[in-house]
Amino acid sequence: MAVKYSEQSKEFHLFNGQISYILQILPNGAVGNLYFGKRIRHKEDFSYLLEGGSRSLAVYTKERDYFFSPQYSRMEYPCVGTGDFREPAFELRQENGSRITHFQYSSHRIYKGKEKLEGLPALYVEAEPEAESLEIRLTDEALNLDCILKYSIFRDFPAITRSVNFSNRGEERVVLERVLSASVDFADSAYESVQLSGAWARERSVVVRTLEQGLQGIGSRRGSSSAEQNPFLAIKRPYTNERSGEVYGFSLIYSGNHIEQAEVDTCGMTRVQIGIHPDGFEWPLNRGESFQSPEAVLVYSEQGLNGMSQVFHRLYRTRLVRGYWRDRERPILINNWEATGPEFTEEKLVEIAIKGKELGIELFVLDDGWFGNREDDCRGLGDWYVKNMDKLPGGIQGIAEKINGLGMKFGLWFEPEMVNKDSDLYRSHPDWILCPPERTPSPSRNQYVLDFSRSEVVDYIYRMMEAVLSQAPVSYVKWDMNRYMTECYSRAKKPQDQGKVMHQYILGVYGLYERLIQRFPEILFESCSSGGARYDPGMLYYAPQVWTSDDTDAIERIKIQYGTSYVYPLSTMGAHVSEVPNQQVGRVTPFETRANVAMFGVFGYELDLSRLREEEARIVRSQIMFAKRHRRLIMTGDFYRLSSPFQGNDGAWMVVSEDKREALVGWYRISGIPNGGWIRVKLAGLAPERNYILDSDESVLYGGDELMNVGMVIKERELCNSGGDYSSRIYFLKSEE
Ligand code: DGJ
Repeated sequence: MAVKYSEQSKEFHLFNGQISYILQILPNGAVGNLYFGKRIRHKEDFSYLLEGGSRSLAVYTKERDYFFSPQYSRMEYPCVGTGDFREPAFELRQENGSRITHFQYSSHRIYKGKEKLEGLPALYVEAEPEAESLEIRLTDEALNLDCILKYSIFRDFPAITRSVNFSNRGEERVVLERVLSASVDFADSAYESVQLSGAWARERSVVVRTLEQGLQGIGSRRGSSSAEQNPFLAIKRPYTNERSGEVYGFSLIYSGNHIEQAEVDTCGMTRVQIGIHPDGFEWPLNRGESFQSPEAVLVYSEQGLNGMSQVFHRLYRTRLVRGYWRDRERPILINNWEATGPEFTEEKLVEIAIKGKELGIELFVLDDGWFGNREDDCRGLGDWYVKNMDKLPGGIQGIAEKINGLGMKFGLWFEPEMVNKDSDLYRSHPDWILCPPERTPSPSRNQYVLDFSRSEVVDYIYRMMEAVLSQAPVSYVKWDMNRYMTECYSRAKKPQDQGKVMHQYILGVYGLYERLIQRFPEILFESCSSGGARYDPGMLYYAPQVWTSDDTDAIERIKIQYGTSYVYPLSTMGAHVSEVPNQQVGRVTPFETRANVAMFGVFGYELDLSRLREEEARIVRSQIMFAKRHRRLIMTGDFYRLSSPFQGNDGAWMVVSEDKREALVGWYRISGIPNGGWIRVKLAGLAPERNYILDSDESVLYGGDELMNVGMVIKERELCNSGGDYSSRIYFLKSEE
């Protein structure tokens, strides 16, 4: 791995064993992209890759020089208004109203390792040799304004991170109106784009579109990364499938408004961009101030979409998730939400916990309803202390100690960013919500968004949470966020600073997380937002796991978890077995199938265990034993998608241990097929030369090559529900030696 600079050709070459990323300082002093893709051997001069020449209507930078036109070049961080008519990566407004800039290369810095981004989540290294970094400083002389393009290349991953920092050394105040984190121009447009789109309860469906001339993209203006569009976009070749072919994945380590887009221009080049959504964003920069964008992660794979996912999984599991829980096995939990909602009694909670303990559960999570005067969703949010002593006579300490006394850990739900009007907090600080004073805020779930761009608001919430968490033995926190942001206006800010509010809000969320993590490093945080509406890499830096979706129906979950796995590792996906008929879709699925899906995630339960029939309790006990036996494999193994539930009636996936000695295969059927064909599923990731024993028939030895090329035979009679609707099975494979 290295970052090389050639003085003579003015080129930067970032490369490791797998990828190359080549930049050049262009004739106008801006930076151009010459190549991003599979590793090529280094040489001093790749300048032939900069193509130019006379074209009608082209805009040039010098008279009589018909070679270089920004419009027809691959620009690394494109500006607006000087002849590149495609989407810019940044825009800023000067005091005279001009948006024209002229940033030119002024210096660069290459260093070992990777520096932190102050106040922002980002990938990290544990030792310097893991990455090498480059900063290219571009300066607009007229404004005395610097734009620093930051890059890091990882030694062991086909991945590059990018971010941008603007810093103002000039007298004049400028207003940043758009600061994307990355923009890459590709030489052609024979690509399809892949996005993860959806809604509440059906998050992250895989959507593939063919690129055409023009702009296509996704984003969120909801104040959070959203259930509707994940901050991720890939472009792949039309022939690329799960296992082979080129794909470039772009993922943003950010939890607020975001944009991802691909633009195919007139001569068939493709510009891919990712960053903070520019709508509503304005960041004034006075002399001496700077602005740091979130970090984008760019992954190249020639092993298809699954290859790309495995890179994201390993990177995010080991170099984004941090702290005490990063490498630890996660506790199997029981959450009371679907069992009781907010109307619980302590007696009922303890009853569920006793049964949970008996079945092998390790963590009891008390969800919404324990605080303030929370009788329903119209009241209580914002008052993070127990008021209703009828519900919890001993407060949080009392219930937590009772749960601990049973030999289980105790976890607690918060929704720190929200407030109900019927709360002590709102009564004493009605101006702490987002909304201009002359307007009425729009309710959503009867709640309002606290102005987390204000440090006094964040401090106040911190103090309340700190008090609960320091007084009671709480081992886990579920941090929920149940509405999108509207009326985004901070009453504490000047008119010219209102465009900062949404980003500062997210910085406030990150800041609160960071303080709580520092204060309680052993608490396991699970992020949640009406299920998976804020499932993004930004959150993973603080919370090692996320409640994947409020939809706990096993059949819906096959799709949700399958789509989520495009970017996010299994170790981050909260997945629970719930009751039937399912509370979201009314479907009745076998107990086994519910667990067979949830097993490929951070496993838990969300139902009234005290009402289980004896036979069900027996099933649950054995599921928990199975989950405990295999959770390390599930958490750390390589994940392979085998058969897409978006394309057919079956779904299948598997996880293989790093040493390839063990594997688990999950196979799922959506509707039963009368008199259907024989079923075989081709496995992946095994060692072809090894022999494996399958738990379904230990008398036969199967070659790894055989299982991957001929396939594993699925016998309907061995499935739960015998191959009928919603049948499934998990197979365990072990290599012979
Ligand atoms: C939404 C979450 O996704 C649920 O799991 C639950 O915690 C509720 N909020 C509680 O209000």
